[in-house]
Amino acid sequence: MARLLVTGGAGYIGSHVVLDLLLQGHEVVVLDDLSAGHPLALVRVAELAGRAARFVHADLADLGRVVPALEGVDAVLHLAAKKAVPESMAAPELYFRNNVGALCTFLEAMEHAGVRRIVYSSSAAVYGPQPDAPITEDAALSPESPYGLTKAHGEQMLHWMCARRGWAAVSLRYFNPVGAHTSGRIGQPHEDAAALVPRALAALLPGGRALTVFGTDWPTPDGTCLRDFIHIDDLGRAHRLALDALTPGVHAVYNVGTGRPHSVREVLSACLRVTGRAVPAHDGPRRDGDMARATADPSRFREATGFVAAGGLDAMVESAWRWTEANPRGYGPR
Ligand SMILES: NC(=O)c1ccc[n+]([C@@H]2O[C@H](COP(=O)([O-])OP(=O)(O)OC[C@H]3O[C@@H](n4cnc5c(N)ncnc54)[C@H](O)[C@@H]3O)[C@@H](O)[C@H]2O)c1
Repeated sequence: MARLLVTGGAGYIGSHVVLDLLLQGHEVVVLDDLSAGHPLALVRVAELAGRAARFVHADLADLGRVVPALEGVDAVLHLAAKKAVPESMAAPELYFRNNVGALCTFLEAMEHAGVRRIVYSSSAAVYGPQPDAPITEDAALSPESPYGLTKAHGEQMLHWMCARRGWAAVSLRYFNPVGAHTSGRIGQPHEDAAALVPRALAALLPGGRALTVFGTDWPTPDGTCLRDFIHIDDLGRAHRLALDALTPGVHAVYNVGTGRPHSVREVLSACLRVTGRAVPAHDGPRRDGDMARATADPSRFREATGFVAAGGLDAMVESAWRWTEANPRGYGPR
């Protein structure tokens, strides 16, 4: 059993990671400023796990609260960040301050506290547009958005903390996390999400807005973008395996995806199969910062940890629909 600090643990991915860690018997401290996360997520995680994480309501850069929270911690899982590509295109400075500036302060606090093990939430957004082939971790980093740039900066800072301070770090480049816990009690609030599946399913709720398909003229088989979706349950397990893979002096970088891309139209077909209803959708122009395809080559993480993503597209959509139907207004007002 370890004591683990999860930053951003009240958010979508963080709440699933915290649940997985509690179920494995770890002691968990969550640090979150609730700028996007929701306290009810942690209440429900505690119900599902049968015990609670300790909650510290704080910004990453608030040293008065961060330093005591780091006491006795064996490793950090750092998920706290702003994450919306379109918002980062509109206001890059918010992303620089939160995802890089606050992270610098937090890393310094970790070093002072002697906590030198970290699993970092990175993203496929660190890569630029790619040819047809699945993307390996050795592909050049050329983020197309300020958001992607901040994620790449975080990785590079960790590289140097490992090289010069002997830290152990794993950066997980998530592709497109989808779905919810099988209970339907925790999930991704659609009102906060720019992601395809929450938006598509929200369009099926009473008063839901039709979905816009951003671009139907991409160089892909059906003209819509291709993405590599990964079940949120798989992602929870990936963090646990990443903790085991931490090695002093090494910053390891892994793609976390399935390697099996699906187009936007295929996702809409899965929504129809799962819900029995067609998602109201209309075609629109391409969106700033998007690319035609992004598929992971997941083999490096598999070789290092044995990780294989289990959840298929229908399972992802099914769990997301269970959550959406049971929580049409997400967790409600903060
Ligand atoms: N969801 C995705 O599609 C996706 C894809 C790739 C990578 N990621 C990364 O995964 C991580 C988690 O994403 P998510 O989808 O759960 O997002 P989320 O917005 O649901 O969760 C992020 C959490 O971090 C908290 N937070 C943000 N800034 C903070 C700060 N300065 N101090 C303290 N808490 C802060 C928010 O309140 C929220 O609870 C992020 O780092 C994101 O960049 C997400």
